[in-house]
Amino acid sequence: MLSHDSGLKPWHLGGKDLIPVVQGGMGVCVSAGGLAGAVASMGGVGTLSSVDLRRLHPDLMAKTGHLDKEPDAGAQIDAANLEALDREIRRARELAQGRGLLAVNVMKALTAYETYVHQALASGADALVVGAGLPLDLPELAKDFPKAALIPILSDARGVQLLVRKWQKKGRLPDAVVIEHPGLAGGHLGAAKVADLHDTRFDFEVVIPQALAFFKTAGIEREIPLIAAGGINCREDILRLQALGASAVQLGTAFAVTHECDADPAFKKVLADARPEDLVEFISVAGLPARAVRTPWLDKYLRLEPKLQNAAHVKAKCNMSFDCLAHCGLRDGVASMGQFCIDQQLGHAFDGDTRKGLFFRGAARLPFGNQIRSVQELMQWLLGGVRPAALV
Ligand SMILES: Cc1cc2nc3c(=O)[nH]c(=O)nc-3n(C[C@H](O)[C@H](O)[C@H](O)COP(=O)(O)O)c2cc1C
Repeated sequence: MLSHDSGLKPWHLGGKDLIPVVQGGMGVCVSAGGLAGAVASMGGVGTLSSVDLRRLHPDLMAKTGHLDKEPDAGAQIDAANLEALDREIRRARELAQGRGLLAVNVMKALTAYETYVHQALASGADALVVGAGLPLDLPELAKDFPKAALIPILSDARGVQLLVRKWQKKGRLPDAVVIEHPGLAGGHLGAAKVADLHDTRFDFEVVIPQALAFFKTAGIEREIPLIAAGGINCREDILRLQALGASAVQLGTAFAVTHECDADPAFKKVLADARPEDLVEFISVAGLPARAVRTPWLDKYLRLEPKLQNAAHVKAKCNMSFDCLAHCGLRDGVASMGQFCIDQQLGHAFDGDTRKGLFFRGAARLPFGNQIRSVQELMQWLLGGVRPAALV
């Protein structure tokens, strides 16, 4: 798929030659087996998001969707989600037919982080991609699966240096690092405060050379490929980032609006139709800044946020009975964090409920405007500058 005259360089990960395009993990159920498998089948990296995948499986929802105050509700939901992760990895593998690479994204902030990591590895994921927290313990967690590539998501060179130094002491280097720009990406963002999101220290032109300079002084030059994520939407972007020293790029939103994306068509339409002025940055219930479309629910929530934060108090139990986050502003009553149930809102978005859903989205314009296109058309555009027929 990568022609010689594209000017783009392939890269290597997990013993494979790959096209330099990674599809980022997107929860809840936005990037499951269908999308990840389609991307891998084209020779890229397809990433499944591990969180709450039971929503894609009616039999698992029938068993667990109604659970509430039962003492074992959390355990039953967790078991259903692990079963769903296994099924989705198998589905992706069938679609990929041995091509590309299949990764699983696990957020460090999840209560079930360790169990998702173990399940992803046991189910045969080629790579683990971990963000929303520093995965300092990943080398130990994955030690029985030495072939699996381990990929942290970071946003600045300080984070890269800290993580690499800690991992080196454990005798392991990351197999790649995703450098995600908090001023451009969708979902949870790697800055402490909303006010910091657009700080120039996160610019690719700053972070990539700094990270490469650190690798050089640490004697690990050329050993850790960098994957730039956030705001990428054409071949010229990839050329520019490869010239800076990145090996590959990661896209989220552009893949979320493909036919193969696992979410409802109405979910895709909300993302595709959003204009720059429709996007909003706010503090999520995980305590991290996030970027999403200002839909009716989010608009109302943000207007009520100060009141809800003033009234924050520890709840008797998690709203969804399975404690998706280790630290949840709503359940734990932390006034400085968001005050909504993230699993419920993201679930509404995945279902295509445009009024109630929380629709994460990156800041950039999309390659095909508000059109929903295929993964193949997106890849042909990114790698070869070929526009789909009706758009020419
Ligand atoms: C709908 C949506 C959900 C996302 N969910 C996650 C997630 O669960 N875990 C994660 O590490 N990144 C998540 N991201 C970030 C993407 O993986 C990707 O790095 C980012 O969106 C890249 O920026 P772009 O959207 O401008 O291409 C999400 C992004 C979107 C748009």
